[in-house]
Amino acid sequence: MTYQIVVIPGDGIGPEVTAATQRILEATGLSIQWLPHLAGQAALDAVGHPLPAETLAAVQKANATLKGPTATPSGTGFRSVNVELRQKLRLYANYRPARSLPGVPSRYENVDLVVVRENTEGLYSGLEHEVVPGVVESLRVVTEQASERIARFAFETARRQGRKRVTCVHKANILKLSDGLFLRTCRRVAESFPEIAFDDCIIDAAAMKLVINPHAFDVMVMENLFGDIVSDLTAGLVGGLGLAPSANVGDEAAVFEAVHGSAPDIAGKGIANPTALILSAVLMLRYLRERAAADRVENAVRAVFARGDVRTGDLGGKATTEQFVNAVLAEM
Ligand code: NAI
Repeated sequence: MTYQIVVIPGDGIGPEVTAATQRILEATGLSIQWLPHLAGQAALDAVGHPLPAETLAAVQKANATLKGPTATPSGTGFRSVNVELRQKLRLYANYRPARSLPGVPSRYENVDLVVVRENTEGLYSGLEHEVVPGVVESLRVVTEQASERIARFAFETARRQGRKRVTCVHKANILKLSDGLFLRTCRRVAESFPEIAFDDCIIDAAAMKLVINPHAFDVMVMENLFGDIVSDLTAGLVGGLGLAPSANVGDEAAVFEAVHGSAPDIAGKGIANPTALILSAVLMLRYLRERAAADRVENAVRAVFARGDVRTGDLGGKATTEQFVNAVLAEM
């Protein structure tokens, strides 16, 4: 079978890390038809819209999408392409594993946890308005339907991966209605998964516990903003943003991208770490049920880190993006 994969190069280091990842995927020998499409600042400059309708339609139709980071102006300008893509295509689950890589300098060894982030509502609903000058409101929307969907995704992930526990992370002591609903729904869903332990943790305590003992967590499920922040924290626990992959999954489409952004400070220099997007491509291969190819790429990346002689600047090395990719290809 030939897979139709949309590739969105994105902004900043996006084109560099997507090209690097495409080279690795091509080396698996799988038959892939690349469908390049624009999004982000690059799309705004080229066709006048940050998320063109053709891109959206192509992502919906393809077997999967590999996406580079897209820049979003802060406090002004167009709405985040990521938020719009996730909402319009109902990519309700954001799956962000944090797993230690051998030989990577970090505070902890053998971290292996998963952050499951609700991807379509919460404070990212995009419902903001100015009440009167100097006063604005942002709506934090929590629905039972989306909470149930994401809780099921977390438990099903735990079951599929043989994981032991799901922790609901929330602030239901203060946000009694919204996070109260989220927590109650997670508790109810847990009853259908008796072999998996369930507990809950208030977000501030969870942040502290993660930094002191990340091994205390297995699968963590939470609403959108908490998941955005906590998954950067967990990326930091295993070596930084250059290493953290993610998947945005819905019933009709899936988009695989790094947790990091467009890194304008190092864009165009050929020194970005492509690992996060390569490991996102591994998640894509698993989603496509290409387990052998996924294992081959992941093992090659881990072998390069275990050897330790080829590392990009974010990890204290001197290798360029290209040198790192060549090392992974040699291991494959
Ligand atoms: P960032 O993740 O782009 O950069 C933060 C720091 O990490 C920078 O020092 C950068 O050089 C470093 N870094 C990130 N990825 C790296 C890599 N692969 N290799 C080596 N170093 C790396 O976050 P920032 O600066 O807050 O955001 C920049 C832009 O990216 C913003 O416009 C933001 O909206 C966008 N963004 C897009 C995302 C996406 O498309 N999924 C996710 C996060 C941010």
